[in-house]
Amino acid sequence: MKIEFPKNFWWGAATSGPQSEGRFNKQHANVFDYWYEIEPEDFYNQVGPDVASNFYNSFREDIALMKEVGLNTVRTSIQWTRLIDDLEMGTLNEDGVRFYNDVINEFLKYDIKPVINLCHFDLPVELQHKYGGWESKHVVNLFVKFAERCFQLFSDRVEDWFTFNEPMVIVDGAYLYQFHYPKIVDGKKAVQVAYNINLASAKAIAAFRKTNKNPDGRIGIILNLTPSYPATNSKEDGAAAHFANLWSNGLFLNPSIKGNFDEELVSILDKDGVLWQATEEELLLIQENTIDVLGVNFYHPHRVKQPSISPNSLTVDWMPNKYYNHYDMPGRRMNVDKGWEIYPQALYDIAINIRDNYGNIPWFVSENGMGVSREERYLDDENMIQDDYRIQFISEHLFWLKKGIDNGSNCFGYHLWTPIDCWSWKNAYRNRYGFISNDIHTQVKTIKKSGYWFKGVAEKNTLELADNFAE
Ligand code: BG6
Repeated sequence: MKIEFPKNFWWGAATSGPQSEGRFNKQHANVFDYWYEIEPEDFYNQVGPDVASNFYNSFREDIALMKEVGLNTVRTSIQWTRLIDDLEMGTLNEDGVRFYNDVINEFLKYDIKPVINLCHFDLPVELQHKYGGWESKHVVNLFVKFAERCFQLFSDRVEDWFTFNEPMVIVDGAYLYQFHYPKIVDGKKAVQVAYNINLASAKAIAAFRKTNKNPDGRIGIILNLTPSYPATNSKEDGAAAHFANLWSNGLFLNPSIKGNFDEELVSILDKDGVLWQATEEELLLIQENTIDVLGVNFYHPHRVKQPSISPNSLTVDWMPNKYYNHYDMPGRRMNVDKGWEIYPQALYDIAINIRDNYGNIPWFVSENGMGVSREERYLDDENMIQDDYRIQFISEHLFWLKKGIDNGSNCFGYHLWTPIDCWSWKNAYRNRYGFISNDIHTQVKTIKKSGYWFKGVAEKNTLELADNFAE
């Protein structure tokens, strides 16, 4: 079976500045740099972000390898902590400007479209300590200043911009479930942070519309969408899934695309006494500055059931999961290494949801992928990782994505996480996701079987599936 994709489809991969560059020559520490300094034992094998995949030093060789695996677009992010010297004034760091100019030009030299994101969890730690990070609207304005500098410097060559990657992860990780520094547990603060990041994104979009130099320039946001499915057909499980969708997906999707927050969610947060502080002026700004394009990171679905305690019973602290419980569905397919369910059909559900409920906005899969630990298990005699499981994983997701496209969803691309195995937050180098492997001791990079396979798909713009391919 051959499946052809739309013309000019983005065949690419995504990484981020903090996960690939290494800390070399960086003026400021971000929250993760700092966290590693004070609590290295929180990171897998105590490996921190100091070297990452050495992209700061080896970007020319790395981009040449990305070309070899057929990528026509690559996302990375500009680090606030590298580009800006004085965070209050927004003054530029000369080496930071030189570096990002060189990187962008190198991508263009190979005819790879650089897709640039502005925040991939990497808040400068000084702003966390001085102002409470995203809890502060002053930090929102400093972010907009940084964003403006990026548009002024690079929008002559960069067409596709994104304000944030997975802002929901900042809310969950840093303010609810303690997997990001500063590991606060505070539902009310979490809700304010979600609002403030929505505001920061809208303000950055407004700045883009004033400073962008490129007639084809577009701006968007990258959201991790995890469709929530109820455990059973019961009313209670249905209500749990409904709230989980409003909270995990709608909190950023609605303001980003529709310019307002879902009324039902607002009234629940209000009733629970945790609603954000907002002004009329800010809400108008959010309304007027919606995105042009959406990036969707999809890894796994979310199965939910009714909460074990009644949402109306008194709890000391507000937590969103008072409205739902996670449900381990028997018989689900798992990526056992990462502990995530594999459910490619969800990509079709996402495509249809965007088509029907979000104005069929142009969107792309900005991350999808399979993290596998101890991948050297799959090395063959020629030193190549035989990652057939990754080829299968990508094929199944592309299959369901194409069904969504055939049904009218406006999807224009697919990016794997990630081009070259990179460092990842708390998990460091535990889970490998790339088309290209990286020996973290020698920084020798080698194309995996999936990299050569993907090149073929990208060149033909066609996915070829075996006759016995199981949906
Ligand atoms: C995505 C993030 O959610 O997951 C990436 O955007 C991250 O930054 C990726 O690296 C994989 O995470 P992990 O922890 O499995 O390596």
